[in-house]
Amino acid sequence: MTAASASANSTIVPQPVTAPLTRSAIFLVLSINPGQESCAAVRSFCSDLPGLFRAVEFRNIEAGLSCVMGIGSDAWDRMFGSQRPAELHPFREIRAGARHAVSTPGDLLFHIRAKRMDLCFELATRIMESLGDSVSAVDEVHGFRYFDDRDLLGFVDGTENPRGQEIAEAALIGDEDPLFAGGSYVIVQKYLHDMAGWNALSTEAQERIIGRKKLSDIELAENVKPTSAHNALTTITEDGKEFKILRDNMPFGSVAAGEFGTYFIGYCRTPRTTEQMIENMFVGRPPGNYDRLLDFSRAVTGSLFFVPSSTLLESLADDPAPAAPAAPTTETPAIVTAAPDGSLGIGSLKGEESYE
Ligand code: HEM
Repeated sequence: MTAASASANSTIVPQPVTAPLTRSAIFLVLSINPGQESCAAVRSFCSDLPGLFRAVEFRNIEAGLSCVMGIGSDAWDRMFGSQRPAELHPFREIRAGARHAVSTPGDLLFHIRAKRMDLCFELATRIMESLGDSVSAVDEVHGFRYFDDRDLLGFVDGTENPRGQEIAEAALIGDEDPLFAGGSYVIVQKYLHDMAGWNALSTEAQERIIGRKKLSDIELAENVKPTSAHNALTTITEDGKEFKILRDNMPFGSVAAGEFGTYFIGYCRTPRTTEQMIENMFVGRPPGNYDRLLDFSRAVTGSLFFVPSSTLLESLADDPAPAAPAAPTTETPAIVTAAPDGSLGIGSLKGEESYE
């Protein structure tokens, strides 16, 4: 089945992009090794993943395991050819003053979440085992929740995420790209913090950088909050409408290595919103009025991936070679959003109309 037929004749089930925040997560970025055999192995893995997922999930169904698989721009071209998501491209680096939003390699992203790290670890292990020689690991980060959903800088992170109906509206592609409806774009950036520098600031100075009170998490009043505050620069409005992304940042680190970080992950129905936020942070709005968080945080990775719907992901496995562009379908598929407990996983609905 091709992207065209997947979207034309069925209910579209997204991957569990909108799964709730969990205690643990693994962010696994891989590159696909050279050669057609590697591409073929990864393509066929797309339909093996649901089975692997179900086997690990069932060992502790209450742990709310979920897995989202993303595919980078170059990898998409190598594996699936010209019929491609409208806005898929490699992550664009930004240099501004001392600030650098790096663009780093990555063909596949696995965002694995659960209440328990053991399930995340098991699924990551099985994924690597199944992909074997066809891939090489680029980066692996184990994230954990820190006290009251705080980042390692001590601030609550995630408060202004969209909620309820807003979530799918912000994160999932709709009519604007019918062949890829139910998909999403995800940007990841791994940040390392200068903890000594940050901790040398007064709490009030830190609050002006973030734009919220540290203890209570209350937003600073407009007459106190600088225009360079993190939550000011990442608020995007156009004609009175606010454009949101869905974030699930996680702290990570190594005490021995002196590494303290935030793994940023943002899903959106268009990469433009997230890119605009990053530009506002690094270049500034207006230019020069940049995010002071970046004086204490350095991005060491940056990649963009397309997240096909589960329905499309499974059908991609059957694509023998890069597909020719298909005739556009006039029918807009129904999108079933992921279960709030994130229990859907990938592809458990093969052949079903809806999982609810
Ligand atoms: C060093 C990495 C980062 C840290 C530690 C961080 C931390 C925070 C914190 C503490 C908040 C306030 C609470 C909340 O609403 O979640 C926040 C808000 C937000 N951040 Fe970040 N963030 C980071 C990177 C990013 C990046 C790269 C983006 C965008 C590409 C981003 C987008 C946002 C957005 C959209 C908000 C909500 C703004 C609002 O509507 O009030 N963040 N972040």
